[in-house]
Amino acid sequence: MRKLVCISVIALCVAFSGTALAADGAEIYTKLCAACHGLKGEGMAMMSPPIKGSEFILKGKEAEISDVILKGRAGDAKKYKDIPIPMLPQKLNDEEVAAVIAHMKELAK
Ligand code: HEC
Repeated sequence: MRKLVCISVIALCVAFSGTALAADGAEIYTKLCAACHGLKGEGMAMMSPPIKGSEFILKGKEAEISDVILKGRAGDAKKYKDIPIPMLPQKLNDEEVAAVIAHMKELAK
């Protein structure tokens, strides 16, 4: 019985630490992306294309979107020639990228 209690406590701790560490897409977006993309994904002249209504975000494959986030898009690869600055590669782990993409998909609606 005591063993069972011990195991349950450990399991609970693991479960809770997992929740505490889960990446928060909205928080990551606000900290790292909103300065250019706008808090609500509205975009900004000369700084970024809008996320709101973006077909690329709404319909693009997860892998294509995460490529832009992790590798950036500069020089000839740039899609928006009227915006002078590049999209710089971001240092995020897989979980953080997935979370921020989910948040962007909400903003894009
Ligand atoms: C310094 C400004 C800046 C910041 C900060 C920034 N971006 Fe960007 N982002 C850009 C620009 C500029 C482009 C357009 C690049 C181009 O011309 O293709 C872009 C493009 C993108 C695209 C592709 C959009 C499309 O329609 O093709 C995605 C996705 C994206 N950014 C995600 C993010 C995420 C996620 C973050 C935060 C982790 C972020 N960006 C932070 C400037 C920024």
